[in-house]
Amino acid sequence: MATYSRLPGSVALITLQNPPVNALSAAVRQGIVDTVQRALKDPKVTSVVICGQNGRFCGGADIREFAGPMLGPPLVPMIHAIEAVDKPVVAAIEGVALGGGLELALGCHYRIAHSKALLGLPEVTLGLLPAAGGTQRLPRLIGLTAALDLITTGRHISAAEALKLGILDQVTDSNAVDLAVDFVRSVAGQPLDSRRLSTLACPCPPDVDSLLDKVMAQVRQRSRGALAPVACVQALRAAATLPYTQGMEKERDLMATLFNSGQARALQYAFFSQRVVGKWSLPSGANWNNSTGRTISKAAVIGLGTMGRGIVVALALTGMSVVAVETQEKQLAEASQAVPAMLQREAGRRSLATPPGVITFSSNLQDVSEVELVIEAVFENMALKLQVFRHLASVCGPGTLLCSNTSGLDMDQLAAVTKSPALVVGMHFFAPAHVMKLLEVVCGPRSSPEAVATAMQLGKRMGKVSVAVGNCPGFVGNRMLKPYLEQANFLLEEGATPQQVDEALEEFGFPMGVFRMSDLSGLDVGWRIRKEAGLTGPGVEPSRTRQGRRYSPLPDQVCEAGRLGQKTGRGWYQYDGPGGRVARSDPWVHIFLEAYRAQHGLVARSIAPEEILERCLYALINEGFNILQEAMAAGPEHIDAIYVFGYGWPRHRGGPMFHAGQVGLGRVLERLEHHHHNHPDVPHLEPSTLLRRLVAGGSPPVQKWREFINKDRVHSQL
Ligand code: NAI
Repeated sequence: MATYSRLPGSVALITLQNPPVNALSAAVRQGIVDTVQRALKDPKVTSVVICGQNGRFCGGADIREFAGPMLGPPLVPMIHAIEAVDKPVVAAIEGVALGGGLELALGCHYRIAHSKALLGLPEVTLGLLPAAGGTQRLPRLIGLTAALDLITTGRHISAAEALKLGILDQVTDSNAVDLAVDFVRSVAGQPLDSRRLSTLACPCPPDVDSLLDKVMAQVRQRSRGALAPVACVQALRAAATLPYTQGMEKERDLMATLFNSGQARALQYAFFSQRVVGKWSLPSGANWNNSTGRTISKAAVIGLGTMGRGIVVALALTGMSVVAVETQEKQLAEASQAVPAMLQREAGRRSLATPPGVITFSSNLQDVSEVELVIEAVFENMALKLQVFRHLASVCGPGTLLCSNTSGLDMDQLAAVTKSPALVVGMHFFAPAHVMKLLEVVCGPRSSPEAVATAMQLGKRMGKVSVAVGNCPGFVGNRMLKPYLEQANFLLEEGATPQQVDEALEEFGFPMGVFRMSDLSGLDVGWRIRKEAGLTGPGVEPSRTRQGRRYSPLPDQVCEAGRLGQKTGRGWYQYDGPGGRVARSDPWVHIFLEAYRAQHGLVARSIAPEEILERCLYALINEGFNILQEAMAAGPEHIDAIYVFGYGWPRHRGGPMFHAGQVGLGRVLERLEHHHHNHPDVPHLEPSTLLRRLVAGGSPPVQKWREFINKDRVHSQL
């Protein structure tokens, strides 16, 4: 709702009331319509201020209303009516003016904000566009170029930036409502024509078409296959080239298309998933929600390679002090140069509430004796990690939390060599660790609720999306990645090229296909893991079967040829020298693949992009069902958040499990059965029991799977 009060003098104050962010629910919209009418009719009122209660102007539309039929007054005519009022109306912005909230403010004649307020039109991140005139009024106010940036990225901006861009008329460090009231009294009676944004022309650079074409190409490249950014550019083209009313029609039509698209549903699902995983309901039933966790002020990182360096920076950015330990002299010297520079760059990019913590470099593990939490990031080798954990157990106090950044080793084995196995958890970061949003918190069978809660909260402090997962080889993300990578290699054996596989995946929406990605990360990482697992290396038979199942030695052979990816200038592609970034097709790879096929009597066939997608993605999804069945993830949302935030799964496709639901579980099952029939030696293509049960149970929507799984589990135990 919205309240109305007449302040001494002649100012009407309208206050939006809908905690927590005064979202524009039907009741709030009705309240605004009624109170604006009242201000208009009241002859004693000469001017109006609109604000929100509890220091928050308005967070935008009420997303919960999207699911049902539209009730209450629509937003567009409501904002038009405000703009048409012949008494000055000022938006007093405190806290947030986001989405519909900013569109409401753009309908007012003036905007005044507190210096800490955040403004933005983030609709594009939900697969939509600002459809209450935002795409038409904002460019008329700040020009086409700036509006394109804000609307296609959906980024939030500070009051200072909004003032500079011309969105705000004034910014204050004190009370924005008081200032707005004083201000509106001072402008009462002045003409309002130039303040009605819908009546203005859109300021454009001389070559509008080339600007719009350039931005269109950028958004298509940045978010491949996503509809909303493209629609935003189309709406802004209308603002630049058509009269306002036609622009509004275009905005409405584009919104109708987006609103009914699967992408908007996927993005809204991704938005809500993030909240669910933030509440970290749990993989294996133990109730950790009630544990408060500890506040860590001093931590240590062991091993300052790629990951360790990023983790040190991520920790120091929270303000805590960090002891950084590395045993190799050269690595230590390099890290003590590189890490402070990384920290400075990152601190400069963010506006930190507290200054970064102090980092102390050391080559002596003894120096971690005083810390409250340790994160180990040495090579992925169990014997080495066990040695480090034993050492840590003897150096640290019995209450110190011991964490490992292992990519998939057994956390319980590590816990077993410490004095307090309950205080051992996995903290699996993603490279670069100070940038990537995802953190898998791996709960061993003996990890205590307090230890898990501490790791989860620490993740939150570092700005991560933390997801609690179970302790199984590869945990959730890497476990699902394995069948995906395997399928990609099998497709090469059967006749595809790395480019064909990558193009199909990039067309689907991944920022990089699997082979380009592997070249970037370094092909030796997986090679080392496979050697450790006894799958390749001296003494292993050169056959296409290992440990009783189909195995492709192709990636091992590429490494054996000294091609480790971008860092050596060659991998699945060729680059302009070591460290080069632009992947070009390499004749060596094609000759190598032909020779390999000839050696193994394989006849290359032409493989359609659909088969590439089905084999790679459905194998990955199938493993996701196995993970859910084994309760290694709490629900499909958890898996989806892991893939969206850690593995480049296109956000507008929700995540692998959501995607399976959109394709149709019956269809995924049928295609898996088909591919499994053709490749019976590939266990990952054999449909998961859970998938079969879900299909037999009527393919419930993804939001109901958790309930289904719980019931199914109880039922199958009876
Ligand atoms: P890296 O090879 O870049 O660095 C490992 C560092 O540990 C080296 O500097 C080495 O000198 C040091 N080290 C070895 N033994 C040590 C000891 N006893 N005490 C102190 N330092 C020691 O390896 P990277 O890539 O940083 O990986 C580290 C861990 O993180 C591994 O468990 C890996 O599986 C995991 N990980 C790696 C990711 C990646 O993308 N590279 C992603 C996520 C996890």
